[in-house]
Amino acid sequence: MDYKRIFAEEISNILEDAMTVEAVMALVEKPRFDNQGDLAFPCFTLAKIEKQAPYKIAERLAEQLSHPFFEGVVAEGPYVNCFLNKSHVSEQVLNQILVERGGFGNGNIGQGKNITIDFSSPNIAKPFSMGHLRSTVIGNSLAKIVEKVGYKAVKINHLGDWGTQFGKLIVAYKKWGQEDLMKQDPIPELLTLYIKFHEEAEKDSALEDEARLWFKKLEDGDSEAEALWRWFKDESLKEFGKIYELLEVEFDSLAGEAFYNDKMAATIELLKDRDLLAESQGAEVIDLSQEGLPPFLIRKSDGATLYGTRDLTAAFYRKENYQFAESLYVVGQEQTLHFKQLKLGLKKMGFGWADDMAHIPFGFILKDGKKMSTRKGKVVLLDKVLKEAMELAEKNIEERNPTLANKAETAKMVGVGAVIFHDLKNERMNNVEFSLEDMLRFEGATGPYVQYTHARGCSILRKSGIAADKLMPTGLNDSYSWEIIKQLMNFQDTIKRSYEQKEPSVIAKYAISLAQDFNRYYSQVKVLEDDIQKEGRLALVFSVTIVLKESLRLLGVNTPSEM
Ligand code: ARG
Repeated sequence: MDYKRIFAEEISNILEDAMTVEAVMALVEKPRFDNQGDLAFPCFTLAKIEKQAPYKIAERLAEQLSHPFFEGVVAEGPYVNCFLNKSHVSEQVLNQILVERGGFGNGNIGQGKNITIDFSSPNIAKPFSMGHLRSTVIGNSLAKIVEKVGYKAVKINHLGDWGTQFGKLIVAYKKWGQEDLMKQDPIPELLTLYIKFHEEAEKDSALEDEARLWFKKLEDGDSEAEALWRWFKDESLKEFGKIYELLEVEFDSLAGEAFYNDKMAATIELLKDRDLLAESQGAEVIDLSQEGLPPFLIRKSDGATLYGTRDLTAAFYRKENYQFAESLYVVGQEQTLHFKQLKLGLKKMGFGWADDMAHIPFGFILKDGKKMSTRKGKVVLLDKVLKEAMELAEKNIEERNPTLANKAETAKMVGVGAVIFHDLKNERMNNVEFSLEDMLRFEGATGPYVQYTHARGCSILRKSGIAADKLMPTGLNDSYSWEIIKQLMNFQDTIKRSYEQKEPSVIAKYAISLAQDFNRYYSQVKVLEDDIQKEGRLALVFSVTIVLKESLRLLGVNTPSEM
C-alpha cells in the first residue's frame, strides 16, 4: 500500500483542480522530526497558486483531511503533517511481507529490458587483484539489484585474455619458466614470471622488444605462441573459478578481449568509413581534441590493436546481441578517461545509444593506507584472504556457539559474507581499508552483525513454537514497533535509490540500520509474552528476518538461520 499516494490523493481531492495527485506527490516529504508525523505536505507552491499565506492553506487542509488510515492531521506553520494509523498500517505492511516474502520490494522499472554489466574482468595470467574483487562484488550486487527492479541482467566477464602482457609472459616462461611449478600452482608461478620480467627488463630493454615480437606472433596465429597462451588462460580460469565459486558469482558470458579478435577489422572499417581514423605518431587514433581529451588509440604502428579497439568492438557486439537499455562497466576509477574516450568515440561515430553506457567506478583497497599493485608484487592473494576469513569466522563461531551443527558451512557464509559486506557498505568511490579483523567483528556495521541479527530473529521464531506461515498478524500500535514498520516501508524506495545511483551501499546501510532498530526493539519489548499482540510481534520479527535476508541477498551475502 502506498500511503504517500493516499495522502496525496486526499489532498488533491480537496484542492479540486488546483493540483494533480502527481504534483502533490512530488512535494510530499518526510517531516524533519519523528514527532512531527509520518508524512508532510509543504504548502508554498499552493500558496502561490491560490495567492494565500501558506500557513492558512495548511490550516484549511488539516481541518478537512481525514481518512481511516490517518491517525491525525495537523498544521504546523506552512506544513500539513500527517500521522498514519499505526495499528492499521502495521497490520497491512506485515501481512504484505508475510505474503510476498523475498518478493517484497520487487519493482518493475525495467519491464524485462536488458542491462549488460561488465564486471570482475580479471587479467589472465595475473592474480585476481583486490580491484577485481571490488569489481566482482559490486557488479554481482548490481546485477541482483537491477533484476529486483525488473530488468534482466546480462553478466559479462570481459576477461583480460589478450594484450602485450602475453608477449612478456611467453618470453619470461621460455627464459625462466619451470613446467612442473607451473603445473602445481600456476598463478603464483605466472606472477613470479611477470615480476621477474619487469625486473629484468629494467636492466635490459631488449626484453621489451622480444615481448612485442611474441605478442605480434600471437596475433598472427603462431602455433607455439597460441599453445602457451591457451595454457596460461586455462590454468588462470581454473584459479578464478575457485574464487567465483566461493563468492557464488556466475556469469552469462565469458567473452573476453580475445573474443573480439576476428570482429576488430569491421570496427576499423567502420571508423574509416566515417573518416574518423587520424594518424598520430605512426599510430591510428580517434582524435578527440575537440572534446578536450587525448586521442583514443585504435591501432599501433605495427598493426596491433589495443584495449580500446576491443572495447569499441565489444560495445557494438553487446548492443547488437543484447539490445541493452543500459550498459554498465564496473571498473576502477583509474580507467575513467578510457571510458570517457570510448563513449565519445561512439558518439562521434553517430551512435546515440552511447548515452546508455555508464562507467561505474570505484575506489582502491588499501593496506595500511597504501594502494596495492601487481607490478611490484605487493598483492594480497585473494583466495588466501577468503580462506583466512573463513578460518577466523570459524574460530569466532566456535567460541560463541560451540554446539552449532554445521559450523564449516556457517563459517563459509560468515567469512565470505564479511569480506563482501565490508566492501559494499561504503560508497563505492571511497577507498576501503583492508582489515580482516574489522570485517569479522560481530558488533558494529559489519556483515556478521547483520547476519547475526537475522539469526537471532530466526531463533525467536523457533522458540515461539508457532509456524511462521501460520501467523495472523494483528496491528501493532506501540512506538518501538512503529520504528521498524517505517523502516520496512522504506525498503522498496531504498532499492530504487540504490538502483538509480548504482550504489549497493545504500542497501548495506539500510540493512545495518534495520538490524540496529531491531536489536533495540528486542531489548525493549517482550516479544514472546502471551498477550493479544503476540502474533503481531512475531510477524514483525519474521518480517525483519525476511527483509534482512533479502537485503543481504541483494548484496550477494548468505544468511545462516543459526550462528
Ligand atoms: N581487464 C581489465 C583490467 O583488469 C578490466 C576490463 C574492464 N572491462 C572493459 N570492458 N574494459 O584492468
